[in-house]
Amino acid sequence: MLIFLDTADINSIKKGIEYYPIAGVTTNPTIIAKENRDYLDLLKDIRKVIGEEKMFHIQVLATKAENIIKEAHFIKDTIGGNIYIKIPVIREGIKAIKMLKEENFKITATAIFTPQQALVAALAGANFVAPYVNRLDNISGDGVKVIRQIKKLFDTYNLDSKILAASFKNVEQVHKSSLEGAHSVTLPLEVLENLLHHPLTDSSVEAFIKDWKTAYNQTYLID
Ligand code: E4P
Repeated sequence: MLIFLDTADINSIKKGIEYYPIAGVTTNPTIIAKENRDYLDLLKDIRKVIGEEKMFHIQVLATKAENIIKEAHFIKDTIGGNIYIKIPVIREGIKAIKMLKEENFKITATAIFTPQQALVAALAGANFVAPYVNRLDNISGDGVKVIRQIKKLFDTYNLDSKILAASFKNVEQVHKSSLEGAHSVTLPLEVLENLLHHPLTDSSVEAFIKDWKTAYNQTYLID
């Protein structure tokens, strides 16, 4: 299981990398646009913060295969390091995935809402497929069920593609997706931090310190 940060906010990425076991960063055009600054400078800054080795998933905007391929080259050449090109699972996107795989690009198929979209993307050569859990839940769909079915298809046909479950708004969605065997999840920092939150953890830690202080009149083990 891998955890990615689903943000382009530099402070969130710095904090996420400092505290948590982060495999990399995922972005999409909306996430980047939110930062309201030169997007290439932003992407280069993210690369500096995460280093060359961590996975950086950057999405194309084009909707014609030939332009998707141009954007993929541009992203790889400009940002460098361990890059995954995110490509939406439209027909031209699938064509681009097939062609880019021949050039050994690493690909994340994105904007996935059905198991069959994931299957086609995996057969085309996508390394990751990104189903959007919360967006499905928001229209009375079942994001976790889609993950379960993608996992079943990948297992049944021995496909190497991994599930990069995306679009999370709460801990329960992450928990259920993990139980279904999603290989990875990409989370906003806030949702990641909420994975740890529990009032009993906080009160337990407080009690440990209070009891220690009562016995030894100090709040540490060593000076
Ligand atoms: C990641 O690959 C997706 O683009 C992202 O998780 C979508 O998240 P949202 O539904 O919160 O916009």
